[in-house]
Amino acid sequence: MLRWNLYVPSPLEIVRTMLELTELKPGELLYDLGSGDGRGLIMAVQDFGANAVGVELNENLVKSSRETVKGLNLTDRIQIIRGDLFNVSVSKADVVMLYLFPDMINQLKLKFEKELKDGARVVSHDYSISGWNPTKIETFNKGRLFNKHAVFLYKIPSSLVSVTANQKKKCRLIKFYQFLHELVHCR
Ligand SMILES: C[S@@+](CC[C@H](N)C(=O)[O-])C[C@H]1O[C@@H](n2cnc3c(N)ncnc32)[C@H](O)[C@@H]1O
Repeated sequence: MLRWNLYVPSPLEIVRTMLELTELKPGELLYDLGSGDGRGLIMAVQDFGANAVGVELNENLVKSSRETVKGLNLTDRIQIIRGDLFNVSVSKADVVMLYLFPDMINQLKLKFEKELKDGARVVSHDYSISGWNPTKIETFNKGRLFNKHAVFLYKIPSSLVSVTANQKKKCRLIKFYQFLHELVHCR
């Protein structure tokens, strides 16, 4: 299976737009899957008041980003996990940011549908999540061929249009009726 382990940093301007689009709030928890040099984590914490977790496979990037975080005295707000992003749960994430190759994003889709909580946002640089409905798409066009970017924002559950999402909705409705039933019968 093709895996994109290349490191290509997102321009800071794009990182800022990604975070702004998610409306990341102070105290929320952001995950950057494939966190590179940690720029998304650091901006999320310093400029948006969030806490952040990065997952990165590349040993050198893990080492250097941890050093940067230490130098900025942000070790209590930023955790960088060295490992495969497919093995890390995102169930606690309020926001997940991605700059990954489409085949990886497609493999993550099912994991996200299982793990992400309602209210969570996923923001992806350049590559959309096929089968999901973006809430917003921002495009950047600086004229030159390699200076074109796009950012896709998704919200859980409204961006989920798959069968799983419908099933999730049904489950929530069932839970709500169960709650009402208990309320009426347990008084
Ligand atoms: C295109 S770079 C993006 C870096 C950063 N998110 C940014 O936007 O600046 C993709 C990153 O994902 C990392 N990566 C790729 N596959 C991974 C995996 N399975 N687990 C963890 N990190 C991975 C790469 O090492 C690389 O640093």
